[in-house]
This record gives sequence, structure tokens and C-alpha cells, in this order.
Amino acid sequence: MLRLEHVGIAVHDASAVRATYADVLKALTYKSEAVDEQGVTTHFLALQNTKIELLEAISEDSPVQRFLDRQGEGVHHLAFEVPDIDAAFARLHEAGFTPLSDEPLDGADQKRIFFLHPKATHGVLIECCSSQPHCPAPKHVDTEHGPVAYYAWGDPERPSLLLLHGAAGSTYTETSLLAPYLEPYLHVVAVDFTGHGASANATPDTPLTADGFADNACSVLDALGCDRAHVFGFSMGGNIALHMAHRHPDRVDRVVSHGGHIDWKAATVDAMMHRLDRADANGTRMDALHGDWAALSSALRTFVEQLPGAALRLRRQMQTVQQPVLVSMADADDLFPLQAALTLHNALPNSRLAILPGRHHALQKHPLPPLAHQIRAFLQVG
Ligand code: CO
Repeated sequence: MLRLEHVGIAVHDASAVRATYADVLKALTYKSEAVDEQGVTTHFLALQNTKIELLEAISEDSPVQRFLDRQGEGVHHLAFEVPDIDAAFARLHEAGFTPLSDEPLDGADQKRIFFLHPKATHGVLIECCSSQPHCPAPKHVDTEHGPVAYYAWGDPERPSLLLLHGAAGSTYTETSLLAPYLEPYLHVVAVDFTGHGASANATPDTPLTADGFADNACSVLDALGCDRAHVFGFSMGGNIALHMAHRHPDRVDRVVSHGGHIDWKAATVDAMMHRLDRADANGTRMDALHGDWAALSSALRTFVEQLPGAALRLRRQMQTVQQPVLVSMADADDLFPLQAALTLHNALPNSRLAILPGRHHALQKHPLPPLAHQIRAFLQVG
């Protein structure tokens, strides 16, 4: 089923319209971007399940100016997210629809797009779009574990939210996908843990530890001059977020842990090892994502193997966490049992529970707008 990605609205003067939407919908513009080839400046507002794209003509001969001349301000197009833009283009072309370009084009907001002529779609201009990974270039902070990569979005004057990815994941593959939904309301900062993404490679002499990962995150907060932040963590990142709240309570406001698991047993270790085996079979891709995948895979296996022995200590640590925590999980997570969320919820003195419909553990396959909405509601922003 396709998702309504955004509604395009043609406007004469975007600043007036932005003020109206701020009043009516409490929705703020999180990005303005000129698309010269189409003669427009676009302004994006985030809503819970979709976005609004305000279109302002920047040249007399732009299609949006012609639209405004013909029928004035109003709804201009509906945009649907398709999983594979080239396949969608070929299929619809074949089926007799008329794309308005010879191939998919680069659009605003990190997308590839094409439009269908409205004559065959009952008068509605339809855009098909497909997101490109949305990740700015990393910056680095030097630490005793080597350079740690981080990424930042949004206004540094807003409350800071740190995003922590899962084991064998990275900002690029996981947490950056949430950033577009959070950036309008928060100063969003994401970290690549040691061995992961654009941070220093893992080495045999420095084992991966929860302390080390929490240090990665604190080093990035230091580099940005942030005393404290809300922390969102996915899977292992959720455990690290809680570990930070336990070890560095003065640096952590609220915590959201999604897909986390503290009660490690032999069966969960096996399931995780199986995922690492599958990643090993994709070594070239994993090397491209992490630098030295063999070193990271080996270090993660050592890290995961000791988790069942640490389960009791982990549970005791959770009992010391005084910050408000949102424990969130997909109801049909294909890696960890749903019980994992209840166990964590029960171990924390001050937590709320959010079970979201979803079949996948992987954050990139989880429906992100509802998760982002939960995060924003819990952090009391937006
Ligand atoms: Co559009």
C-alpha cells in the first residue's frame, strides 16, 4: 500500500502561508529548498503521517506560476512514496499514463520524483517519489577510542536529541531516517559508535563495551557544547541510552528505547549471531558501510556473548534510572520477543510503554512516522 508522502500546495507568498499553518496546524517549516530546474522554492511542513510542500514560483515561466495564473492558490499535487522509482516509472509508462519527464528527476527533500499528466488521473496531478538516504556529511571528534563520527540537523537553540543506532547499524542506515520527522522540532544529533559507520574501526585490543559506547555519545555532546540531551536509542543503542542515564544521569533528560532487550539468554545470542552471519555473507557491502566489517563483526560477537552473564547487573542498573523513559517496540518484532519490552518496562522505575504495529526489528523497515510521533509526544515537542 502506498503512503501519501506529501501534499503539494501552490502559493503566492510562502511566508504568509507558513504563518497560517503554524496557527492552524501547529506545524513548522523544517526546510526550504529551491529546485531551479522546476522554477520553484519548496517549503516543507511535517505532520504526523505526511507532509505539506508549499510551492512558490521563482520564475515567470515555471509550471507553478502557470498553475497560479490559471487557478490561483490551492492544492497542486498529491505525492505518493513508491519503493522503487524506476520500476514505478516503467510500470506506469507501460500502462499508458503520461509521465511529465523522460525519466525520474532529482526533486526537493532528497527525493527522486516524476509526475503523471492529470488527464489520465481524473484531474489530479500525481507525483511518485522515492527517498534517498538523508544523511549530512559526518563531522568527527577525537577521543581515546579514535575519531567518533557525528551528524547534526536542525536549530541548535532547540532541545537536543541524541540518536543512537543499533549493533552493526549506523546513522546512515538507521537513525538518519528518523531525522526528517524530528528536525523541525529538535536539535537532532546522531552518533556512529566505535567500529560503526564513519567512526574509527574496531581493533582487537579495544573491546566494545557499554561504557565505551556511552563515552562515544558523551564526547559528541562535549564537542557540541551540550550539557545534556534527550536520548533515543534503537536496539543496542536503546540499552546504551539507558546505560548513559545510569552512568551519566546529569547529561540525560528523557530516554526513548526502541527495540531494546536486556534479558539476554542463549537463544537471543544465537538469533543475534545468525544476523551477524548473514551480514558476514554481505562483507563487501558491510565494508563499505563500516570500514573494516571483519573487525567489527568479531568485536560484536565478543560483546554479545557476554550479555547473558551481564543480565542481572543490567536489570539492577535499570532500577537506578530516574529519568522518564519511553520503552517502545514493534508488536511482531522478528528478532526479540514482545516480552522484552515488558521486562524492560517493569525493570525501570519511571517508564511508559508504547507497542507499535510492525513486523520488523530493523529500524529502516519500521513505519517511521508513527514512531517519530511517539518520540515527539514523549519529549513534549511539536
Ligand atoms: Co512534491
